[in-house]
Amino acid sequence: MTGARALHRQTVHTRASVRAGGWPDWSGQPQVFKHYPSGFPRLALARLPDLRRLLFLCAGLTARRVYGDSTWFLRANPSAGALYPCELYVQARGVAGLADGIYHFEPDGERLCLLHRLEGDGLESCCRDNRMVEGLLLLVSAIYYRSSWKYRDRALRYCLLDSGHLLGGIEAAAVCRRAACRIICRIDRQRLAACFGFAGQEHAMAMVVMGRRCPERVSSLAMQLPFVSGSGPFVVNPFIEKAMEEIGRPDQCTPAPGGVRYPFSAETLEDAMARRRSIRAFSGVPLKQREFRALLALAAMPPALDCNEPVRVLAVVNRVEGLAAGIYVDDRCLAEGDFTGMARHLCLEQDLGGDSGATLFLAGASDNYLPLLLKAGLLGHRLYLGATGLGFGCSGIGAFYDQEVASFFDTGDMILYALAVGR
Ligand SMILES: Cc1cc2nc3c(=O)[nH]c(=O)nc-3n(C[C@H](O)[C@H](O)[C@H](O)COP(=O)(O)O)c2cc1C
Repeated sequence: MTGARALHRQTVHTRASVRAGGWPDWSGQPQVFKHYPSGFPRLALARLPDLRRLLFLCAGLTARRVYGDSTWFLRANPSAGALYPCELYVQARGVAGLADGIYHFEPDGERLCLLHRLEGDGLESCCRDNRMVEGLLLLVSAIYYRSSWKYRDRALRYCLLDSGHLLGGIEAAAVCRRAACRIICRIDRQRLAACFGFAGQEHAMAMVVMGRRCPERVSSLAMQLPFVSGSGPFVVNPFIEKAMEEIGRPDQCTPAPGGVRYPFSAETLEDAMARRRSIRAFSGVPLKQREFRALLALAAMPPALDCNEPVRVLAVVNRVEGLAAGIYVDDRCLAEGDFTGMARHLCLEQDLGGDSGATLFLAGASDNYLPLLLKAGLLGHRLYLGATGLGFGCSGIGAFYDQEVASFFDTGDMILYALAVGR
């Protein structure tokens, strides 16, 4: 069994694993916001409305929930269990109103925290292509304990999928501004961890070039930050630490030039990014066939990724007007029939699975586990935004019976992620 499959297998849900679940330790509940010490200079994004909007649409706080005397924020990016393991760092070079430097985005307070001023060095030095980027270079990271606190080893998947969602948000923000964006998975994670002082608690997931590549090369990153906890309490998860080491160097990658087209205007897309939520219950009103096909088309367009691993869409069609209910693989009907009860069961008995217009399972077979899961999350984000923009709903479903889903679709692929779409 290859590395990716072995890893994936170790985090499957089975009927026994779900029963053995248990409750998280409330005394060890992690924080969801990372703050550097007050000595680091802060910059209010109100002074930079364009950048403020961009970061808000990718990772901003878009809703507030109050439970008793505690307040909880939801974000532009969905997250398994609303635990938000991801952080976003911004390198700016030649951006008007902003000193060239590396910043940490603080979604609460909408500020940038200046971590390091560029002096001939930069994050480019941690990419395979180290040509200088004029404009923005973003780094997405994950603090795994925020998720492993509740989900234990399966949090490995959720950190990757959540990161993929954030990348999907960045991709969509680039579409809105008609800007190029290129996602890079082949980065020097060890070097980044050392420079950022991640101390094994936070992991660099991917970078995104949102700017112009210049001919000059950047060969060093002269930054040495102290460790700053992003979770408060922290409990080591040896499985995730080992897994991150194993998957951190993708190889034999096939790049894709990418280029997503949403089936609506940039204004509608921007509105969808700000409004997106996970649907919590479906009404039973069917989807239209063209709506369903628009989502499949979104999932089929390769993202601009340096390591573009194939991801297939397996679907249980429950309620789509003009389309026979049944099992579909890559848009082909394998069997007609009412599989709503089965779809609900496969999603760990969650009603979303059976009440949807369609429940999609993203599957893949690549050994490059990190880019494969990032891509699944990114495609999931496109499905959310596509559904929102077209006027219906979507919810990610990270909890499913892996092996039962694979047997149901008669596939040897790993099941990476499920999403229920409908109204
Ligand atoms: C990777 C991932 C897995 C998720 N799994 C589930 C799930 O199994 N069941 C569910 O009801 N919601 C699931 N969600 C939705 C989250 O609960 C939701 O994103 C979070 O509560 C924040 O709410 P919002 O998406 O409305 O902003 C998942 C989301 C993600 C990104």
